[in-house]
Amino acid sequence: METIYLGSGAEMPIIGTGTNTYGKENNKYDGTITGDTTELDQAIAAGYRHIDTAISYRNESVVGDAVVKSGLPRDAFFLTSKIPGRPEHVGTDEAVHNAVRASLNALRTDYIDLYLIHHPWDNLEEMLYVWKILENYVDEGVLRAIGVSNFDETQLQYLLDHGRIKPATNQIQSHPGHWNHGIIEFCQANGVTPVAWGPLSRVQDSDRAMLTEIGAKYGKTWAQVALRYQLERGVAVIPKSHNSERQKQNLALFDFELTKEEKTRITEL
Ligand SMILES: NC(=O)c1ccc[n+]([C@@H]2O[C@H](COP(=O)([O-])OP(=O)(O)OC[C@H]3O[C@@H](n4cnc5c(N)ncnc54)[C@H](OP(=O)(O)O)[C@@H]3O)[C@@H](O)[C@H]2O)c1
Repeated sequence: METIYLGSGAEMPIIGTGTNTYGKENNKYDGTITGDTTELDQAIAAGYRHIDTAISYRNESVVGDAVVKSGLPRDAFFLTSKIPGRPEHVGTDEAVHNAVRASLNALRTDYIDLYLIHHPWDNLEEMLYVWKILENYVDEGVLRAIGVSNFDETQLQYLLDHGRIKPATNQIQSHPGHWNHGIIEFCQANGVTPVAWGPLSRVQDSDRAMLTEIGAKYGKTWAQVALRYQLERGVAVIPKSHNSERQKQNLALFDFELTKEEKTRITEL
């Protein structure tokens, strides 16, 4: 698996698995947590080692269980979690400490590879304050890298200007029909690795048809073409599937290469 160096010494596999409906009743985001690790077991068996969870998903413990159950050493994995940008988690120093402790406990680990501020809120100084607390956890080695999610240019620039540690990643929505080129270019110009969430969601039929046509030449599906495009432009991806065949497909991205013309067509979707 190719990795991306995250500055602070951490190496992130360029493909991870999303998890936001894993371990839940009826595969629903808001579903009751069942504790079922099946999707994660399948993903780990397929070769995923980078796993993206969040406090808001309520399933960090399911991820923690699956990692332990795998029998693989903790350092075989790259675990991402996220602190919600809501007052109960970021309103006081103690709230932030509680969130980090809760994530560590649920993930059954003494360090987290990447910890993100899940969403920005409308107070730059407060976000910087939380960032500085997270920076201290990096100093202690409890968080190996820290980053943000859904930050726009102004919010990211503020942390770049005033933080001590540069955000390692900005996890943002990016998929065919809504690539979010602007913020991705801004991240890359500033040495912040973009990670695409929802990389296979909300894709229009016409866009899927075009990607299918490109993929036919390589024996690849529209989804594999969409993911490969992201990798070729240096964007990490965290696709999620409940289907083990599709989980495998989403990892099988390293045996073909898109031409310049194909990438130009895809860029314009
Ligand atoms: N930071 C944030 O604010 C944020 C927001 C949303 C999501 N995320 C993260 O990003 C992850 C991925 O996003 P997502 O879960 O919204 O959706 P996604 O990865 O874009 O997948 C959407 C749907 O595509 C289908 N799919 C997956 N692989 C496929 C393939 N090879 N061919 C055809 N269809 C395929 C899946 O259905 P099947 O199960 O039927 O295959 C899945 O339900 C999340 O799980 C979460 O970890 C982060």
